[in-house]
Amino acid sequence: MRIVHSVAELRQALAGQSNTAFVPTMGNLHDGHLSLVKLARERGGPVVASIFVNRLQFAPHEDFDTYPRTLERDCGLLALAGCDIVFAPSEKDLYPEPQGYKLHPPAELADILEGHFRPGFFTGVCTVVLKLFNCVQPRVAVFGKKDYQQLMVIRRMVDQLALPIEIVGGETGRAPDGLALSSRNGYLSTAERAEAVQLSAALRRIEAAVRAGERDWARLEAEAMSGLAARGWKPDYVAIRRRRDLGAPADGEPLVVLAAAKLGSTRLIDNLELA
Ligand code: PAF
Repeated sequence: MRIVHSVAELRQALAGQSNTAFVPTMGNLHDGHLSLVKLARERGGPVVASIFVNRLQFAPHEDFDTYPRTLERDCGLLALAGCDIVFAPSEKDLYPEPQGYKLHPPAELADILEGHFRPGFFTGVCTVVLKLFNCVQPRVAVFGKKDYQQLMVIRRMVDQLALPIEIVGGETGRAPDGLALSSRNGYLSTAERAEAVQLSAALRRIEAAVRAGERDWARLEAEAMSGLAARGWKPDYVAIRRRRDLGAPADGEPLVVLAAAKLGSTRLIDNLELA
């Protein structure tokens, strides 16, 4: 496995390739990321993973400075997972000058849910992902469904800009108790880690209620929010939405329930596609 740090080195390493599969990450990898690399490997071409903590998608009060940077460990895991090239640019490599050109995704998709609570987040994500796509020029790119809204925003970006890239969504990796794997789980204390499972449990309860015929979406959302709040969480949202565009739910359409909540100082997100 090769580790490259500059765009020029990356282009040289990929010269002549037209079948590259790409997994963008911010590092601090866990089994969820490695399962995305596995999906990328199934595509047969060279697999590139990027590791870049993208300042543009963090608000000033968020955890950009403390976000865990574990490059050596990450590269070891990626090598074992069968990655061919790690692209780990420094900020100077990827943003040699302040990034004045930015990609603003449509408000109806990107200013709701995560975008409502993290204004500018998806502008930062789209800008870096488009730039990474331009560097890697992949045929396929793999994103986790854990960041469900991000996956939808990227899919729409690729469609609207006619980028010749197939976007593949990988299933959310979960700990045995159901907690969605996330780099931010490492911020949890032992007691918080034990409590953290309640977020996915709340989503499962909604899934069970919908399966049993419940259609009062607002009541289900409110009950889940108040249940979490009663346990000491600070929920930002629990929202049942149409899968295709995250619009208001309608019976008979494929739905997804998405949630974000703070436990102590750690903000966790999760989602579940409803059957
Ligand atoms: O999902 C992430 O880790 C990031 O948002 C991404 C896609 C690597 C862009 O920085």
